[in-house]
Amino acid sequence: MKKNFIVANWKLNGNIETISNFLKYLKLKIPLYSQYNKIVIAPSTIYLERVYRKIKDINVFLGAQDVDINKKGAFTGETSILMLEDIGVKYVIVGHSERRFFHNETDKLIAKKFGLIKSLNLIPILCIGESANEKKQNKTEKILKNQLDVIFEYFGEKAFINAIIAYEPIWAIGTGVSADPIYVQSIHKLIKNHINKYNANNIEKLIVQYGGSVNSKNAKSFLEQPDIDGLLIGSASLMHKEFLKILKISNDILCK
Ligand code: 13P
Repeated sequence: MKKNFIVANWKLNGNIETISNFLKYLKLKIPLYSQYNKIVIAPSTIYLERVYRKIKDINVFLGAQDVDINKKGAFTGETSILMLEDIGVKYVIVGHSERRFFHNETDKLIAKKFGLIKSLNLIPILCIGESANEKKQNKTEKILKNQLDVIFEYFGEKAFINAIIAYEPIWAIGTGVSADPIYVQSIHKLIKNHINKYNANNIEKLIVQYGGSVNSKNAKSFLEQPDIDGLLIGSASLMHKEFLKILKISNDILCK
């Protein structure tokens, strides 16, 4: 049965009070909205365990926003994939443009993290996307293919089995200006066609999400597109009312 894959990326936001409040409402509504949604909450690392304790018995999964490249050792301040696995994380966001930009993460480092996540049987959510300038110069296709090809170079044709792709155009993130759903549909098709060239077997199962200024007003227009399989939501996922509205919209589309 098809489900939309909806991820809340809380980034560097939230505290004990806001998180408890959010999860209280989510728990109440989850039986209504989890039938056609696969829901992941990705809080800041420090709150992962707290969130896990509250969601482990309901149909919601735990996501991390990043992971270190090393499994253990003298790497002050970092978080290991073994630790994430240990506390119940199932999904790890990797290659988010904010990490590429603020932490100088390269395609090569991102590919290594991607492999590390898969080696523990956790599921990477690989973020790819073009900047405003790249779009203006008609480089979107080239940029996206490059970002995917780096992963194929390292892990071969099976790279995207048990992996999720999030298309997040950088110019749409946090700007309040989301991409046009028809444009996103064409990009998702392009991404799927590109992956299909390497491995046609998995294409039916491949999930490609959209992220970038998604809210309850525009969620429907994205989820109605045949190749938009879910949403990666930033600021709108911080407010329980807004997030629950999006879950309802998503659920309603598929239960028709
Ligand atoms: P916004 O929804 O705040 O634009 O953030 C999108 C995002 O970066 C999710 O990873």
